[in-house]
Amino acid sequence: MKSLSVALADRSYPICFVHDVASANSLVEKFLANRQGPMATIIDAAVAEEHSSIWKSLGQQGPVLRIPGGEGSKSLGWMEKGWEFFARAGVDRTGCVVVIGGGVIGDLGGFLAASWLRGIDFIQIPTTLLAMVDSSVGGKTGINTPAGKNLVGAFHQPRMVVIGNFFLETLPEREFSAGMAEVIKAGLLADASLFERLEELPCLQPGAPELLEVIRAACAIKARVVAEDEKETAAEGGRALLNLGHTFAHAIEKVAGYGTYLHGEAVAIGLHLAAKFSMEIGVLPESMVDRVRELLEKYQLPIALRQPLPTEALVQAMGKDKKNRGASLRLVLLKSIGEAYTKDGFTPEQLTRFWNTFQSL
Ligand code: NAD
Ligand code: GLY
Repeated sequence: MKSLSVALADRSYPICFVHDVASANSLVEKFLANRQGPMATIIDAAVAEEHSSIWKSLGQQGPVLRIPGGEGSKSLGWMEKGWEFFARAGVDRTGCVVVIGGGVIGDLGGFLAASWLRGIDFIQIPTTLLAMVDSSVGGKTGINTPAGKNLVGAFHQPRMVVIGNFFLETLPEREFSAGMAEVIKAGLLADASLFERLEELPCLQPGAPELLEVIRAACAIKARVVAEDEKETAAEGGRALLNLGHTFAHAIEKVAGYGTYLHGEAVAIGLHLAAKFSMEIGVLPESMVDRVRELLEKYQLPIALRQPLPTEALVQAMGKDKKNRGASLRLVLLKSIGEAYTKDGFTPEQLTRFWNTFQSL
């Protein structure tokens, strides 16, 4: 399948799509053939277990650090272990790290590469659907701290992303659905034809022949948006659009307690909320809100809170979102299916009223 490019001048890189391990391996081998420096591999422990024959070839036999998946690993503790690992492995500025795993290992491994010797090369090999369509592309790396999720990190682009759908065969069903929330998000924010395709297709499963093409379509949106606004500095729109549904989702994750909802599940509720909010301010027709809800439900994703959460805490959490500028609350909303926009100036009172109606859905 034709690769994509994230066009960032001399830091441009390909996103490659493969159906089998041999093809993934030959891409990595080809990339590494031109390099002399030391190699190291960072891998999600579950992937190392489930796909032992696969990752050994992808990692090209350099020293290996296995890290458990799950939010808890995006920590300062694992950063220290990672730096010690690089020191032991003798990774110098000519080195390259192959990072194999979901969004957690990708964000952590990317930040390790960004911080070691002030930045070394790395390759992303995502193994969850969420990581394939979102976190492995675009160079946002980082960890969680007591101050909050993803508040410490760096923009550090990979040199190559290799997406192999064969990893998804072992992904738990709930994680697969959570990844589909980010695929639906991609269509919703910038590609009505992707959204319609998802509506038409039977519910996609990990082995579905159409899946890689759908993943590629979602990546194409991300690649385009990142190329236009790499560091999310556009006054309007830009990379912030990729956070459609996320201001609501981050508040839900924080107030419910991290881990209560998978990130993609909270995003699904957030997408439904963003659509409903867009309807309430008179921008999005109700029929489109219904379509958003129906597509999320098709993938067994939640569209409402499982249990009510305190409105005040939710609104407060939304006030701390990284997208806000000063005191004004900024949201990503929908004009139509396939067309998102950013809007500032929302008040806590407006959001309190909105959450109160939504709590009882
Ligand atoms: P994750 O990395 O924790 O993976 C989910 C679970 O699946 C883990 O238990 C992991 O061990 C397991 N797993 C991974 N691949 C597997 C496979 N092929 N087979 C079986 N099990 C497998 O979670 P995630 O949902 O992939 O990523 C979530 C993270 O991504 C969050 O920390 C979020 O902040 C981050 N994120 C980052 C960006 C970005 O732009 N950098 C974008 C979106 C999300
Ligand atoms: N996932 C949002 C971004 O990459 O900007």
